[in-house]
Order: sequence, then C-alpha cells, then structure tokens
Amino acid sequence: MHVSRLSRSWTAYVCFLSLVCLFIAPAVTVKHNDFKTCSQSGFCKRNRAYADHALELSSWEAPYKILPDSTSFKDGQLQAIILKTINEQGDTVRLPVTVSFLQSGVARVTVDEEKRQKGDIELRHNSQVRKERCNEAEKWAIVGGTALDKGAEVAFSDKTQTTVKYGPDAKFEAVVHFAPFSVDFRRDGNSHVKLNDHGLLNMEHWRPKIDKPEPEKKEGEADGGEAEGEKKEEEPKGEDESTWWEEKFGGNTDSKPRGPESIGLDISFVGYDHVFGIPEHTGPLSLKETRGGEGNYEEPYRLYNADVFEYILDSPMTLYGAIPFMQAHKKDSSVGVFWLNGAETWVDITKDKGSKNPLAIGTSSKTTTNTHWISESGLLDVFVFLGPTPQDLTKSYGELTGTTAMPQEFAIGYHQCRWNYVSDDDVKDVDRKMDKFKIPYDVIWLDIEYTDGKKYFTWDGNMFKDPIGMGKQLDASGRKLVTIIDPHIKNENDYSVVSQLKSKDLAVHNKDNDIYEGWCWPGSSHWVDCFNPEAIKWWKSLFQYSAFQGTMENTWVWNDMNEPSVFNGPEVTMPKDNIHHGGWEHRDIHNINGMTFHNATYEALLSRKKGELRRPFVLTRSFFSGSQRIGAMWTGDNQASWDHLGASIPMILAQGISGFPFAGADVGGFFGNPDADLQVRWYQAGAFYPFFRGHAHIDSRRREPYLIGEPYTGMVTSALRLRYSLLPSWYTAFYQAHKEGSPIVRPMFYTNPEDEGGLAVDDQMFVGNTGLLVKPIVEQDKESTDIYIPDSEVYYDYFTYEIISTSKGKKSTVSAPLDKIPLLMQGGHIFPRRDRPRRSTALMKWDDYTLVVTLPKAGGKAEGELYTDDGDSFDFEKGQYIHRKFVLDGNKLSSKDFEARDTKSIKAGEWLKNMKKVTVDKIIVVGAPASWAGKEEVTVTGTGADGKTSWTAQVDYTAAAKGKAAFAVVRRVGAAIGEDWNISFD
Ligand code: GLC
Repeated sequence: MHVSRLSRSWTAYVCFLSLVCLFIAPAVTVKHNDFKTCSQSGFCKRNRAYADHALELSSWEAPYKILPDSTSFKDGQLQAIILKTINEQGDTVRLPVTVSFLQSGVARVTVDEEKRQKGDIELRHNSQVRKERCNEAEKWAIVGGTALDKGAEVAFSDKTQTTVKYGPDAKFEAVVHFAPFSVDFRRDGNSHVKLNDHGLLNMEHWRPKIDKPEPEKKEGEADGGEAEGEKKEEEPKGEDESTWWEEKFGGNTDSKPRGPESIGLDISFVGYDHVFGIPEHTGPLSLKETRGGEGNYEEPYRLYNADVFEYILDSPMTLYGAIPFMQAHKKDSSVGVFWLNGAETWVDITKDKGSKNPLAIGTSSKTTTNTHWISESGLLDVFVFLGPTPQDLTKSYGELTGTTAMPQEFAIGYHQCRWNYVSDDDVKDVDRKMDKFKIPYDVIWLDIEYTDGKKYFTWDGNMFKDPIGMGKQLDASGRKLVTIIDPHIKNENDYSVVSQLKSKDLAVHNKDNDIYEGWCWPGSSHWVDCFNPEAIKWWKSLFQYSAFQGTMENTWVWNDMNEPSVFNGPEVTMPKDNIHHGGWEHRDIHNINGMTFHNATYEALLSRKKGELRRPFVLTRSFFSGSQRIGAMWTGDNQASWDHLGASIPMILAQGISGFPFAGADVGGFFGNPDADLQVRWYQAGAFYPFFRGHAHIDSRRREPYLIGEPYTGMVTSALRLRYSLLPSWYTAFYQAHKEGSPIVRPMFYTNPEDEGGLAVDDQMFVGNTGLLVKPIVEQDKESTDIYIPDSEVYYDYFTYEIISTSKGKKSTVSAPLDKIPLLMQGGHIFPRRDRPRRSTALMKWDDYTLVVTLPKAGGKAEGELYTDDGDSFDFEKGQYIHRKFVLDGNKLSSKDFEARDTKSIKAGEWLKNMKKVTVDKIIVVGAPASWAGKEEVTVTGTGADGKTSWTAQVDYTAAAKGKAAFAVVRRVGAAIGEDWNISFD
C-alpha cells in the first residue's frame, strides 16, 4: 500500500501505521517486492527458459512448420496453417497464420490458435470468460492504414518458401520459410527484420489440466521440506508446469481458467545496433541489452501498466503506460515493429556483435540486435515497418494508431498544479499572485482533495463554496481549471454515482463475475469498465454541466490511477482473472485499460452540452498505442532531484518517437522539495516539454514560481515567457504531429538519420522543424554544456546571436549560467514567435507575430512555417486555419500558403475574419549578409493589414562583432499574417 501517499483524510489507523513506517522506512525508493521480476512471472520465466534451451543447442529446430499445401495468396494476403509439433509422438496443433501486406508498405503477421478460435476448449473453475485468444487490442489501437496492397505479388513459391514482393515500387520482400516457420523482411534485396530466425516462436497451445497425484509425504518430512538427511528428489524433466494453472504473487492467487497461453517470438534487426521505443521506461533512449553483462540490464523491458511508487531510474521496470512499438536505426536506415498485444509483455534485447552479415561494411552494421517478445495471452500480431527513414516509421505508425489530437492552444501553455489547492480562495489567490508577479500561466489544477471524501463529481462544500465563482475569475483572463477524475468509484452508501454504477452493472467484475471491490484513494471502491459501450454512455452523462455542478466551459479533466491502480491488488493493480465487458479477462487487456478510461472521458467532454464542439483536454497517466488521439500524458510520480530532471528528457523523446508526443514530466519533481537552482533548471527544461506542468506532492512545501524568491522567480518567469513567445512554433509542431505522426521534440537520429555519431544522443532535442536545438541543464552548479552538433550547418546562440563554433559530429561548448538555457538556432530556418508578454495564451490571440530568420551557412535558403487556428474548436477541420510557408531566398523573403490553397476562396468564419488584422510586425534576420549594411528600408508587396499593397518598412542592420553574427531587424512590417506577401532586401 502506498502508505506515504495517503491523503490527510485517511483513517486514523492507517495514519498511525504510516507514521510508524516513516520511522522505519529507508530512503525513497521503489518497493521491488511489489513488482515481479521475469522469474517471478510464470510465462516470462518459461519463455526465457525456452530461449536459453534453444540458443544453447546447435541442433535446435523450432517445432513450427507451415503445411505447404495450406498456403494461399489473394488480394495482398498470404494465408497458411502452421503446425506446431507438441510431443515426441509427433502430435501437432494447428495455428492459422496470415501475412497481410498493407498499402502503406507495412506488413502484418498474425498467428492464431485454431482450437481456441473455435471455442473448442474447456475453461476451469466454471469460468465465464471468452475462450478465444484475445483480439481486442486491434479494436482500441488501430484506426486506419489497414487497406491491403492489392499490388503485392508472389515472386517465388515452392514447397519450402514463398516470397512476396510488396511496398513502394515493390522494393520490399517477405520471404516466408516453411520449415521451421520464419519470415525474412528485405528491402532492396537485403534482410532488415527477421521473425523467428532464432526459433524462439512459442505459442502455448491449449491443453486440459491433468491432475497429478500429490507426492506422498514421507515420515518426518515437513511441509515443502525434505526428510532429514535425505536428498531431495530431482524435479521431473520437461516443461515447467508450476505456473500453468495457478500463479501466486504477493498474497494473491491468479486462477488462470484457460491455462498457459503465452506467446513468444524473436525478432532480429539485421545490421542494426540501436533500438528505440517501447515506452514507458526510465532508461536511455537507445535501449540497453537485457541479458546481463557490464552496463546491461538483467531483466527484460517490461510493459505492464502499473502505479510504481517512487520509481527508480535507468531501469527496464514497467511504468504507467505501454507502447509496444520498437524502431531500429543505423546510418541512413530505419525499420520497426509494432507488437499489437494488450497483455503483460516483456522484451529481451541482446546485441550480436559478430559479423553475421559478411557483406556489411563498417563496424556498427555488423551488429544485429536480437529481441525476444513475450506476452501472456492474446493473438500473435506484429506489424513490420521497413522505413527507410524515421519519418516513414512515425507516419505509418500514425496511420495505424492515429496521431496526436490537435490540442486546444491553452493546453500547450503552462499548467500550475499541486496536490492540492485547498479551497476556491486558494485557487483565486494563486491566480491573482501569478498576475501580480507577471508570471504567465493558463491552467490551474485541482487534485483529489477538492472532492467530498474522494467522491468524484462532488465538491468539498466547506472548502469550495463557490466553484463557479472561481471558474469565472479564471475565465476573466482566459484561464482554465482542470479537475481530477479517477476511475475508482467510492463504495459508499448515498453516493449516487456508485449506486448507478452498481445498479446498471457497469463496473469491472471479479473472477466469480460479481462486482469487483478493491482499495484506492477513497478506500473501498469499484472500477468503471470502459470496455463497455453502456459504461461510456453513462460516463458521458456524469459530465453534463447539469450533473457535475460547479463545472463550466473552462473546466477540463485529469485522469489518473487508470493503470488501474489498486492499492491492495497484486502489483498494485487488478487481479488478472477479473472480468471485463465482452468476457475478456483483465489479463488480456490490462495495458489497454487506461486508454479506455481516458477515451470515455474524452467522449464525455465532447458531449457536455449540445452544440458545444470544442477539443477536449484530458491528461492521462496510463496509456497504450492510440492514446495520443485523446490527450496528453505525463511521466507520473517523479522526484525533486537532479537525476529525475535528467531522466525526463530521454523519456519525453521516447514518447515522441513512439507516436505519443504530447508528453511532460512534473516540473519541480513530485516527491520532495527542490531547491531554487533545481526549480529554475526544471522550469527551463519544462519550457521545452510538449506538456508543461508544475506539480507537487501533498507533503511538499508550496512552490508556486513567485514563492521561490529573487533572482530565481525572475529566472523562472523568463523561462515561462520564452515558452509563451515561442507558442506559435510549438503549435505548428503540434500540427505536424497531428498530420504526420511526427515527434514534437525530436532526437538527433530523427532529424539527422545520416549522422551515426548522434544516434544515441538523448539529452538534447530539436523543437519540431524550427531548427531550435535545446540542451537543458540537468546537473547542479553546471554553468556550461557541450551540445552535440549533428550536421555541418551554422548554429547561433538563441539569445546572443553568437556563432557557435560547429563541426559535424563534435560537441560545442555553450555557456549557461543559471539564468540561461542552452538554446541554439540552426541556420536555414524561419520560425514564428509572439513577443508581447501576456498573462495567458487566450490574451495573445490577436497579437502580431515576429519571424526569426536564421541564415544558413552556404548562401542557401531559409525556410519555415506557421500553422494557426482558433485554438479551440474543430473548425480547422473545415479549412478555418492559416498555414504559411516562409522562404528567404537571396534578398527576397516571401510568405505563401503552405498547402498552395486558394485562400481567397475560403469562406472566412469569425476567427479567420479577425485574423485579417493580425500582422507580421517584426522580422529578425540572424546572420544577415554584409551587403545589407547601411540599408534603411525594405519594400513590402502583397497585402497589408490595412489593405495596402506596396509599402516600405524600416530596417536596422547590426554588423557582426566579437563572434556574434550580423543581424537585421525589420520593424512595423505590417504584412497580414494570412496573406501572400514579399519583402525585398535589394
Ligand atoms: C497520483 C498521481 C499524482 C497525484 C496523486 C493524488 O500519485 O500520480 O500526480 O497528485 O495521485 O491524486
């Protein structure tokens, strides 16, 4: 139980216990005993043992063979039966396999088990769960991209293999070997991804339980022990059946009505020595090996969404969310796999540094990364991506699972949270003080204490006497309120929400099919089962303004504890044999559970009021592939320490490349009290998190930015202002993520896949495609840092325009005293800002823009873009947006519609009409050519906000000096932001 996280209203008894624990508990660290290691997880142990056995034997032959006569190929799909030999007598079970070739160039391999598919199995304990292998993950994760490639063709086929050519220009090939079954995915004739190359495919088929007689006890033998002086009998040889039918952990017994049903498969990335992805974990972006050895992990990466209290860093332990999408990168080539399975999953990684590929040139390409994927149940369903670029991967993955929801603009401003703002007066006071200290922010948050006794959809009437009054004060400056709503519903009489949940039978059931009861913040609770469409319908009704009184149009929601967290459950979650709507065991869909709750809340916010169509904002802690379509995530309960600040960067980068880039970490650290330096550095880093929220534990000291004191408050304010001025660039990056599935903050391998040296760099990031390169300081007393330069472009210091000495593949030292963020501008870009300091994003809505142009090294072009819309509604889906492309080519700077739309023909709604008055006010050209010296005016042609078509604007030129680049500033430009225009610097 999370003793030290108990809220104040916890029972006196437990408070007493927690006090006792405080005295005896050692320093802050995860309780390892709460969570399984691979050897404590029956199916993981069995599959690892299977791998050890197979890899030890030189004569190992996997017992899975395609029946040659069973293969057929039609409309981009290869179908066949795999026979698994299950004993020495040669008995087999039938496993239907489908290899689908999709129009996007992605291939999909699905293996099922015929007996379970037909329901031809017996369940134990009179269980009422489904008999087939779970295929529910697809329903929740996949939203498109599955159209078959009818152009895919069998290029060769005989009794031993079938080769299919597919993908763009038929450059991809899948060689399906029959005996043993394996698939070799090739691009341009070379192998890149191999399935079952090491023969670790393991699909635990259904079998009846054969009860063996209990071994007779010998005289003098104690329970589980052995007779004195007698040698213990050897374990019988063969498969380890000890956890097939029942598994105990932490006082809980998992009843396993379907017996053993795990799946395992090895996937090799031939010639690749970096693999990335499979969040959420705390280690480096480039994943480590997991089978021991110096610097490696001993445990596989685990994906089993869990509320890991005081999580540790640099660990393959599971965390709150799971995205089973892995990418492999080497110089100029990227490939990936998506393992679509919602059950507990483990992934082992080893690197084979031998020269497996004799034709490979260079050292790194000799390495093959071998991965071993193990899931407890469900279909074997794996998507293979052959790239070749990182952008190809994120785009195809985005087509399948959806892309980042376009957020409300306020959602990318700063969020002020703590557990807890204790009253409506407290909230109003913080709001006023932020203004008094001129600190911009957009959202203030209410944690669980705002409720009446942890009953969601209620208010603590003593402390929050006038929630609407509070909401209105916030609304006066365009600000919002976020309230927390968790999935556990307090089990208490006279609480209408729980009465409805019970009477409508919308909660998760236990293994006996009764309503499941467990413990969370409110004490005894039930859990809404959002797999049930009726539950979603009901959930929607709870958010109506008339039902959740005290909320208004500027109230949004935070979903926490949705792994789900159950304090008295095994591994702090639900028993695996709990039953969900549709008859799935919790085991089958555990990792999807959090997304279904998040989704229900999103749906609810969409339907709060008839006709009110605004983009919902919902933050989630638990997630799965597809959660990006719904809202933002954060990395949970981190600590106020420098190493946690450091760990947040690779974690957020991993989210970005894994399709869920709207990510952030608690700024300041959740547990503990950061000192002033740490707070400043954390705000500087947070200003570059896509999701930017300060948050703190209930026992931590108050730390709103104005409380830190000068000079620190000023430093934090500068970081916040920097974020706010760059919001147009951030919003543009979000739009790209929404359209293309691209990360919002990008690691070096993503922007420079040709640069081998940068592949593993994970402590610095580019913001979208702005060329802004930041390396937050994450160490105490550090006053400079070395930034890795991934290309030969020129880089300028963001604040001083100093030219940073650069050399591709080398590090450049940048000074960074406490008040400075190491932030560079890569040459060749144009990015938008709004420079007028304001209190919130809403108040910036009609502000003019500044464009910053950074000249490239060798006289090339500078290019950039701006996307903007009303920041609130779905009108952008009907063309109500501005999307500009800016180009500086020689002496001419132009603005055109990014998509070459005929903007004049778009019928302007309210927002677009108002935007006609908004202009580009200032243009700063960093690295301006010497030929511009002495120039006083530039000519602007096009459309001005006041309707003029040709005019001049004043320009000031500052010559290069002392390592600083020359720059020119054009003032009062007056060109309409949404219109075409040109500026001539001739
Ligand atoms: C969980 C959340 C944390 C929140 C707390 C109380 O620990 O991760 O952010 O403050 O619950 O709701």
